[in-house]
Amino acid sequence: MSKLQDALVIRGNTVKNRIVMEPIFTFSFHGDDGHFYGKQHIEHYEARARGGAGLIILQATQCFGATDGTGQWTDYDKEILKAIAQKCHNYGVSVMMQLACGDSDINALTTGEVLSMQREMVSAAVTAFKLGFDGAEFHFAHGYTLCKFIDAAYNKRTDEFGNSAWNRTRILTGILPELRSKTGDRFMLGVRMGEFLPESRDGFEIAKLFEETGVDLINVSFGMKFPDGDVPEGFICGPMAYSGCRMKQAVDSIPVIAAGGLRTEEQVRFLIEHDYVDLAGIGTAFLADPAFGNAVLGSTPFTKCRGCERCLWFTDHTLCPARKK
Ligand SMILES: Cc1cc2nc3c(=O)[nH]c(=O)nc-3n(C[C@H](O)[C@H](O)[C@H](O)COP(=O)(O)O)c2cc1C
Ligand code: SF4
Repeated sequence: MSKLQDALVIRGNTVKNRIVMEPIFTFSFHGDDGHFYGKQHIEHYEARARGGAGLIILQATQCFGATDGTGQWTDYDKEILKAIAQKCHNYGVSVMMQLACGDSDINALTTGEVLSMQREMVSAAVTAFKLGFDGAEFHFAHGYTLCKFIDAAYNKRTDEFGNSAWNRTRILTGILPELRSKTGDRFMLGVRMGEFLPESRDGFEIAKLFEETGVDLINVSFGMKFPDGDVPEGFICGPMAYSGCRMKQAVDSIPVIAAGGLRTEEQVRFLIEHDYVDLAGIGTAFLADPAFGNAVLGSTPFTKCRGCERCLWFTDHTLCPARKK
């Protein structure tokens, strides 16, 4: 039986406990002087590092601009990102960047445009490595560009990026050897994805291909649509977390994170202590209380996320009722 405070070694990195802060885009934060990132981001992530996360995965950062230092990759942004990585390390917390590729209609892209997207993905991950991050997670979830590549129903491409499952993963698997050679042995490469693409067996097949080609970590969310349906009796977490547990059974040899609606100590312990998954991914509960990790590890009280119908961090984090309390 695993314990919440057990360390987990992933590609030579010791993740000090089983609690992950999931990527959360900070819509209402402002960068410094017109830049995307700023000191507000440093404080935000440092508080969650101090607050007990074993692994922090930063909010989605767009790969575009990584090659020429524009977009979210200006020199100033990179200084902020470097500081975030450093602050996390000060608390012994492992830290990864989440890398995304916008929301394009992938069927309308030329092969050349896809190849150039791959160049940006390589540049972004290599930059993350140089800035001191322990890994990069590619955002293959939530219906965005990379998700559309792996979704069998959406992807109608007729070149080497479409048709077979192997081809649909090529957007990442095609650059994995280069990523490995440019980032070193200990740099974790992860994927956030869902089970249903559009059927559950498709998600498992894709995840296994990622596993076989050297992806280190699968962070389970949803793909083109949310996994609905019931969870088995006695399973005290929601359908998305259940999806993570099913994914763990499918891939088995690499660590899997399950997430979605994990707001109580009981739920977090349930997933880890039954060995359903390796890591518990926490989103809004970490927004409501930056010290959620320490509270769960130490069985102490914390400020609860209210589970608002639509999280106010999507629009204005200052209105979050947990924060105002
Ligand atoms: C405001 C907000 C922003 C989010 N941004 C991202 C993101 O950048 N990347 C991502 O993969 N998921 C993102 N998510 C999804 C979360 O990572 C998480 O999977 C989701 O909130 C469910 O977990 P929870 O119930 O613990 O919050 C976001 C969620 C919220 C509420
Ligand atoms: S706005 Fe609501 S759902 Fe979002 S973190 Fe705050 S309490 Fe939780």
